Amino acid sequence: MDSFEFNKIAGAILGTLMLTMALGLFSGFIFAPNAPAKPGYDLPMAVAEEAAPAAADAPAVPLPVLLAKADVHKGETFAKVCGACHNFPKGAGAKIGPPLWDVVGRPVASVVNFDYSDALKKKGGNWTLADINQFITNPKAYAPGTKMGFAGEANPEKRADIVDYLHTLSDSPQPLPAP
Ligand code: HEC
Repeated sequence: MDSFEFNKIAGAILGTLMLTMALGLFSGFIFAPNAPAKPGYDLPMAVAEEAAPAAADAPAVPLPVLLAKADVHKGETFAKVCGACHNFPKGAGAKIGPPLWDVVGRPVASVVNFDYSDALKKKGGNWTLADINQFITNPKAYAPGTKMGFAGEANPEKRADIVDYLHTLSDSPQPLPAP
């Protein structure tokens, strides 16, 4: 690059800078910045109130965390709705639904002589705490066609209490999942 070409480039850069400065000064005249009397923004109070429901959309607390705080005695009380159709004590038979003693870890739809729906029969696997939690959230969504006529329990804390209680219905309950 000879010095003439260098000068051309340097000149172009300098020219651009000067033009930018000039534009800045010029726009300063047109749009005189208006300093606010009070610094900061005035937030309308309504915003704080509207923000509250957003908490409901917060990511769900994982089940093991809820289980760590769950209350077996509350669970036993909440499980009274299940008791309309299920027996809990060891050795008790079926009601409208299969007995729930030892249900955690039991193969799905495995109580002999209980007439399960095809929906549950084709599920397979063993009942985990997480599966039961999902099932009782919305039985019809978890197993479309299920015979369990229970609308579902929407409250995650209540469900954790219920699942925590079901987990005690065993001679040797498995440890709860670590949060
Ligand atoms: C209105 C009666 C009714 C209520 C209330 C009810 N269930 Fe059921 N439940 C059933 C029936 C019927 C089945 C069998 C479902 C099928 O075959 O599709 C069942 C199946 C189950 C199973 C599967 C058991 C297995 O052997 O595979 C679990 C677990 C269960 N219920 C838990 C609960 C819990 C927990 C509650 C309360 C939160 C509850 N149920 C409330 C009627 C009920």
